[in-house]
Amino acid sequence: MSTTNVSLIGLGPMGIALARALQRGHTLTLWNRTPSRAEALLGQGTVLAADARAAVAASPVVLVCVADYAAWRAILAQPGVADALRGKLLVQLSTGTPQDARDDWARLDGVGYLDGALLATPSQIGRPDTPLFVSGEERALAACRPVLEAIAGHIAYLGEPIGNAAAWDLATLSCMFGAMAGFFHGVRIFESEQLPVRDFARMIGTISPVIGEMIRAEGEDIHAERYGEPESSMATCAGSGRLFVRQAREARLDAGFPDFLMGWFDRALAAGYANERLAAMVKVLRQPG
Ligand SMILES: NC(=O)c1ccc[n+]([C@@H]2O[C@H](COP(=O)([O-])OP(=O)(O)OC[C@H]3O[C@@H](n4cnc5c(N)ncnc54)[C@H](OP(=O)(O)O)[C@@H]3O)[C@@H](O)[C@H]2O)c1
Repeated sequence: MSTTNVSLIGLGPMGIALARALQRGHTLTLWNRTPSRAEALLGQGTVLAADARAAVAASPVVLVCVADYAAWRAILAQPGVADALRGKLLVQLSTGTPQDARDDWARLDGVGYLDGALLATPSQIGRPDTPLFVSGEERALAACRPVLEAIAGHIAYLGEPIGNAAAWDLATLSCMFGAMAGFFHGVRIFESEQLPVRDFARMIGTISPVIGEMIRAEGEDIHAERYGEPESSMATCAGSGRLFVRQAREARLDAGFPDFLMGWFDRALAAGYANERLAAMVKVLRQPG
C-alpha cells in the first residue's frame, strides 16, 4: 500500500535538490545507497525507506536520479525491487544515452515509464522556467505532471519513443559544451593579450541571442538540405579557422581547439564545399571520419 505520493531514489547533489523541491506539496519516501545523505531532509512528510524495495513500494510515482543507468541497474537487481515496481510509474532522471533508455524500458515489465533529462543545475531545480525533457507514453506524463512540475516548471514533451529525451539532452549538451570549448579558447586569446576575461564573458552573454539566431538559420538550411548561394561561404569561415591556428602559434597557446576546428574545415574544403553554406559541414560529418 502506498504511504507517500512520491518516492525518490538517489541523493547526490541533484537528488537532494529534487527532494527539497518535492517537499513543497508532496509526501516523500527517500532511498539512497548511502542513507546518511537523507538525514537533513527527513520529517514533515518525508521518510527514509529501509531499502530500495520499500522505497519503490511506498509510492505510486518513483523518481530515479542516480549517477548513471548502470547504478540504476544495480539498484533494480536488489531483492524485490523489480516486483515492487509493477503497477508503478517510474520516471528515470539519470543521464544516459537513447539506447540506455530503450534498454531500461525493455527490462521492466508492467511498469509505466518516462525518461527525463533535466537541463539544469541543482540550484535551478524547482523554478517555473527550469526545463525538463520528457519522452514516453503521454498518459504516463499526464498522470505525474504535477510531480514533475514541482521540480521543473518547463516540461518539454518530446514524444513516445523512449530514447527521445536522452537524444535531445545529448544534442543540447553537445551544443553547450561545444560553445564552452570555444569560450575557453577565447579566454586564452584574451589572456594572451592581457584583456579582461570577465568583459569577454559578459559580451558573449549579451550577444548570445544573435548566436542563437545563427544556429537556428543553420538548422533551417540543414532541414531543407539547402547548401548553395552562401552569404558567408565555407571558404570564408575556414579563413577564420586558419586565423585561430596562426594566432595560437603566435601567442604560444594550446592549439587543440583551433586544430580540431581546422580539421573539420579541411575536410569540408577537400570535399568540394568551399562555395557552399557553413551548414554543408553536416555533409562532412555524415561520412565516416
Ligand atoms: N548535478 C547536475 O548539475 C546535473 C544536471 C543534470 C543532470 N544530472 C544528472 O543527475 C544524475 C545524478 O547526478 P548528481 O549530480 O546528483 O550526482 P552523481 O554523482 O552523478 O550521482 C550521485 C548519486 O548516484 C548514486 N550512485 C552512484 N553509483 C551508485 C551505485 N552503484 N548504486 C547505487 N547508487 C549509486 C549515489 O549514491 P551514494 O550517495 O551512495 O554515492 C548518489 O545518490 C546524474 O545522472 C547526472 O548526470 C546532474
